[in-house]
Amino acid sequence: MYDYIEKVLISEEELKEKTIELAHMVSNDYKDKKLLVISILKGGFVFTADFIRALSIDVTVDFMSVSSYGAATRTSGVVQIRKDLDNDIKGLDVLICEDILDTGLTLSYLKKILIARGAKTVKICTILNKPDRRVADIEPDYVGFDIPDEFVVGYGLDFAEKYRNLPFVGILKPEVYAEY
Ligand code: IMP
Ligand code: MG
Repeated sequence: MYDYIEKVLISEEELKEKTIELAHMVSNDYKDKKLLVISILKGGFVFTADFIRALSIDVTVDFMSVSSYGAATRTSGVVQIRKDLDNDIKGLDVLICEDILDTGLTLSYLKKILIARGAKTVKICTILNKPDRRVADIEPDYVGFDIPDEFVVGYGLDFAEKYRNLPFVGILKPEVYAEY
């Protein structure tokens, strides 16, 4: 069926189990807080949708779309905000929901912006983490899976905007990249 997939790294069942586990931890930690989940588009939307439905506490949700400009800003970590939040975050306990923490440049910049806007706390919840790739001084507060330094797709993650809809996390066959 998925003849472009070389290997399934994390199955649908494993993702489901882990997402519920993370939601239970967050529900416990944010019991008496004003939780705002910020989903980072586009990659974070699939995980966010599953994650918030497993929370047992009140939550509000907002969305942001960010992207890095190019080589120069890649090292400085400055990102462009393509879609900003709809609402004020002053005094809220913000939890950023991401698909993957890679170099960490995007989120370390974003975290500073959100703190400057008056968020009470800013934490990071990511379903995937590539610790070997880290450049910025940032660690996730909640992590689903640490994965090796390989390019993955599925569960929100894309290659050239495709494969976000796969219910699992997998690695593409080399010939798929060769087409580009
Ligand atoms: P960084 O942490 O600033 O390097 O940026 C992380 C972003 O890069 C993620 O939100 C993804 O959009 C993208 N990314 C990093 N690794 C992968 C991958 O293996 N597959 C697909 N997208 C990735
Ligand atoms: Mg992303």
